[in-house]
Amino acid sequence: FLETIEDILPRLPEGISIWAMKDSVPQGIISLKEKLSTASDCHVPRSHHAISNTKTPYLYIFTSGTTGLPKAAMICHLAAMKSSTGLWAFGCTPDDIIYITLPLYHSAASLVGIGGCIELGATCVLRKKFSASQFWNDCRKYNVTVFQYIGELCRYLCKQPKREGEKDHRVRLAIGNGARSDVWREFLDRFGNIKMCEFYGATEGNINFMNHTGKIGSVGRATFFHKVSTIKKRDIEIC
Ligand SMILES: *[C@@H]1O[C@H](CO)[C@@H](O)[C@H](O)[C@H]1NC(C)=O
Ligand SMILES: *[C@@H]1O[C@H](CO)[C@@H](O)[C@H](O)[C@H]1NC(C)=O
Repeated sequence: FLETIEDILPRLPEGISIWAMKDSVPQGIISLKEKLSTASDCHVPRSHHAISNTKTPYLYIFTSGTTGLPKAAMICHLAAMKSSTGLWAFGCTPDDIIYITLPLYHSAASLVGIGGCIELGATCVLRKKFSASQFWNDCRKYNVTVFQYIGELCRYLCKQPKREGEKDHRVRLAIGNGARSDVWREFLDRFGNIKMCEFYGATEGNINFMNHTGKIGSVGRATFFHKVSTIKKRDIEIC
């Protein structure tokens, strides 16, 4: 896929390095293959492993402040791995094409969305900024089958002027949070039989809910296993 980023290479900010698994690479790209060919065959000693356990920081993520002021919240490797199973848990497969228009500095798009695509090996269609008027055009153009929403996104789509063929798309699933039941109903009437997978979670929370019962307006509930498990705070961080 190297060719697909050639256009933007000159405009990338300094400090971003691109590694490619190729012998000959264009200027400005580092060849991982070349580095590997000169590397030792011996096992890397354990003390050199960057990650020694799954509770070490994976990244710091912006949280909008459910638990106080907006701040950087620590996400450990375990939490990131758990978040990346969200798309799978809602029934996405490697054949899905997932449309993400949410900001990537948020857990929903980055950990659940991108993380979920990597976990599944599914295709991800990214848009820099959500556009209500272009939304369905993009879905048709890229054969999108799943999209992520948050808050009022579905309402913005319902507020768009009506057009011909609004049910003409391949979207089968929508995954997110905050769709009110009136918008939810209107959305399904207008855009067709899309399975709405509503869930609740907080970056710094210790639990998440998923709607698996098909009740309009429900954010779902925690499973029985949560009650009996010994899972500690920060283990489950979905949104
Ligand atoms: C979308 O699907 C159609 C029909 O299967 C195919 O011809 C087209 O190339 C696909 N578009 C993209 C962007 O993959
Ligand atoms: C959540 O509720 C909607 C509306 O009834 C339903 O169509 C959908 O299947 C439910 N989601 C899941 C994951 O069961």
